[in-house]
Amino acid sequence: MRIRKAVFPVAGLGTRFLPATKASPKEMLPVVDKPLIQYAVQEAIGAGATELVFITGRTKNSIMDHFDKAYELETELANRQKQDLLKLVQDVLPPGITCIFIRQAEALGLGHAVLCAEPAVGDEDFSVLLADDLIDGRLLPCLAQMQRVYQEHGASVIAVQPVPKDEISSYGVVEAQNIAPGLGEIRRIVEKPKADEAPSNLAVVGRYILTPRIFKLLERTPRGKGGEIQLTDAISMLIQEQTVLAYQFEGKRYDCGSKLGYLQANVEYALKHPELADEFRKYLTQFTAELPQQQSRMRAVKP
Ligand code: G1P
Repeated sequence: MRIRKAVFPVAGLGTRFLPATKASPKEMLPVVDKPLIQYAVQEAIGAGATELVFITGRTKNSIMDHFDKAYELETELANRQKQDLLKLVQDVLPPGITCIFIRQAEALGLGHAVLCAEPAVGDEDFSVLLADDLIDGRLLPCLAQMQRVYQEHGASVIAVQPVPKDEISSYGVVEAQNIAPGLGEIRRIVEKPKADEAPSNLAVVGRYILTPRIFKLLERTPRGKGGEIQLTDAISMLIQEQTVLAYQFEGKRYDCGSKLGYLQANVEYALKHPELADEFRKYLTQFTAELPQQQSRMRAVKP
């Protein structure tokens, strides 16, 4: 029971990062030195995926290029004996992994994007990863943790985490009946409810393991929140027919769809980066020590 196929919806407009995302996709924004999409792809491959299905839209060609062979660059690096760099470039897509790109002609929402993957996924269980949710699973990447739950229970699994009340309306929210610590059977799931109508504080984050039944349900999912076809609404139908588990993963998630979350990810990943960590820590320590003085100086000069 290995999940072979991973779906990456990458057709979103990335409006929160304009103008950076005017001509290039938000999934190509780097966290230190790797684009967001590469972290998600590595997580999927690490959990055993061998077929990657990208649901793309306009301005997404750089994602295709990123996971393609770069003959000129590789030849040039080989000629210059830059073996380390050559390895970095070649490791972007390990051997034996296939990429499929499907164009989502209209941006009709996450549910529609997942439905576009049906011809490539067919009749098998699959995962969905949203690259702007960057997750440091610490001991085990998030999708690999979910795969364990999937193997044990033979059911769909959705990653969730508790979020503060004032943020809950930005997420899909679940009500789950606990079956083990950090694991519950979903009884209700609602897309972006108002804070005082949310069924709990458990928010869906961008990792899903789903059965192909979801495609049939997505076909009849009407437009929901924001006029879009919502994956959450199809999952709400799925729980009437099959068990769907909500799993609180171990680790830290960075909301790289927001500027603040993206900056936090950069700082924390830089502090773990083998080449950068020491110097960056020194810089940050000095900078933060000077911060109160700088702020009071700035306050002093304010008219
Ligand atoms: C999507 C889903 C939402 C989920 C979120 C996680 O929303 O629709 O249910 O909680 O991803 O990041 P989006 O952030 O794309 O609006």
